[in-house]
Amino acid sequence: MSEQEHAETPDTTSEKLVELAKRRGYFFQSAGAYGGVGGFYTFGPQGAALKGNIEDAWRDRFAVAEGNMEIDAPTIMPEPVFEASGHLEGFDDMLVECPECGESHRADHVVEDNTEYEDAESLPIPEVEEVIAEYELVCPNCGAGLAGQAVEAFNLMFKTNIGPGDSQPGYLRPETAQGIFVEFPRLKEYARNQLPFGVTQIGRAYRNEISPRRSIIRTREFTQAELEYFIDPEADEPDLSSVEDVTVTLYPASEQDAEGGTEIETTIGEAVAAGIITDQWVAYFLGVAKPWYEAVGVDMDRFRYRQHLPGERAHYASDCWDAESEIDGNWIEMAGFAHRGNYDLSKHGDHSGDRFTIFKQYDEPRTVERATVDPDMSYLGPEFGGDAETVVEKLEELAARNRSAFDGETVEIDLDGETREIPVETTGFSLEAKTEAGEHITPHVVEPSFGVDRVVYTVLHHAYREDEVDGEERTYLDLEPEVAPTFVGVFPLQNDDELETEAREVAAALREAGLSVTYDDSGNIGRRYRRQDEVGTPFCVTVDYESLEDEAVTVRERDTTAQKRLPIEDLPTALPAIRAGDLEFEDLEG
Ligand code: GAP
Repeated sequence: MSEQEHAETPDTTSEKLVELAKRRGYFFQSAGAYGGVGGFYTFGPQGAALKGNIEDAWRDRFAVAEGNMEIDAPTIMPEPVFEASGHLEGFDDMLVECPECGESHRADHVVEDNTEYEDAESLPIPEVEEVIAEYELVCPNCGAGLAGQAVEAFNLMFKTNIGPGDSQPGYLRPETAQGIFVEFPRLKEYARNQLPFGVTQIGRAYRNEISPRRSIIRTREFTQAELEYFIDPEADEPDLSSVEDVTVTLYPASEQDAEGGTEIETTIGEAVAAGIITDQWVAYFLGVAKPWYEAVGVDMDRFRYRQHLPGERAHYASDCWDAESEIDGNWIEMAGFAHRGNYDLSKHGDHSGDRFTIFKQYDEPRTVERATVDPDMSYLGPEFGGDAETVVEKLEELAARNRSAFDGETVEIDLDGETREIPVETTGFSLEAKTEAGEHITPHVVEPSFGVDRVVYTVLHHAYREDEVDGEERTYLDLEPEVAPTFVGVFPLQNDDELETEAREVAAALREAGLSVTYDDSGNIGRRYRRQDEVGTPFCVTVDYESLEDEAVTVRERDTTAQKRLPIEDLPTALPAIRAGDLEFEDLEG
């Protein structure tokens, strides 16, 4: 839902949150001075800090703790990259335009929102047109009938020109992943040519969404945190021992298809043993991700993993599970965990001049029989003229792929759509025993792909609370200390030079201890507490007249509003320990 769509009096938590986000500097539609444009949001001071903290937490878990590399690739890439990746051809959504008001809509969303179809994205376009006509669906904007309107495939990539003129088209990347895949020939060197290895990237992705909606949930520019984990499918298996006991709520494709199908409460280990999650690497990363989501503040009662239905999967994926969070009764996708097979590396290998394989050393050298050809050019030259070299390549490829093709008197090749016969005796076909130290294999890829903006939104939504304090209504964000944009607010009780000097010294000491601190001396103390509660600041420290005597201050905890009197000198060690999770507020000696 865009900001303009919200009612005058916010009703749902989402509406209240969007209003709070704008007022308190979390996020708001960008370029408002020029009327704004759908699908672009600016993170304000609080939002940028929260997003940065979530990105840091992701980096700590998925790059540092897993021993993976991190890179930072350009956001614009040349056209051949996306020809190879399949995005130019297949990264489309279904577009239907209203004949009356001209508004563009995602045809599959119009169908899903108004019929019993749950996965309209997987339907072919003619079928979507039929459903629109059959159900007499109307424009969500003006109510005009959409029956008979053409549904078109609309490519979501933003196109640009690299340099002057239009001779070198480029595209803003629709996923950060391609920046990793195209660099594989160099990245494998940094991994010393050893599988498995992982490469992460946190950065912007761009999609020209037909109808961006629900504030930062579906935008045209957003941040992804992606891990591409390269494996040898025949040799590499994850160690599941660290995640096998992680409890998960799963919604497998089979349950979604079944009448009365339900979510399943299980553990990663049991789900693998029962064949519910078939790929062990996907299972491993689902097991790693769940505690991570919990640690940054996603409510685990409103979290599940849902398997993609076969028609729903992206063009590259052989299996995919989404991490979903519940927002005002709807499930939204926060991340996808896909098995991409060797799709991407093979495509880039085919389209570029570089090698997207890795040399896999055998334990012992192996003697293998290789089929080779040594064609007689005095025959092929006169027979095929300028095509003779192509014929040689085709014979080499055929010998490697299907040696039995050379069993008869003649061998057949396809030349420009025409079948040509060549006497086997002119091909120089033979079988040679060769001793080889290893082989070139194309690694497979398992990809946990997180949408950072959707994590930010979910964390804020799940943290939104309303209660009553001292007879007054209060709104606060129950953010985890690890991700809260500001950890502590420091206030002088009143506008008084001595108190202000002392409070500024306390703030400086806490900043030096590595905490994010806000100093506030405007308005009465109750209002300052409310301000910090609303942005989710876990603690407030108030310096009063007694502090000048006893060198102690009042520390107030956000959720309970409980207060303790603590020595100033203890704060730079106690508060960072609470933030790190090593100490609880209740345990502080007050
Ligand atoms: N490399 C795989 C990939 O890009 P995806 O499911 O298309 O997969 C991954 O995107 C994540 O990016 C999604 O789970 C979602 O959280 C986020 N995302 C995708 N499109 C988005 C959009 N228009 N606005 C905000 N986040 C988006």
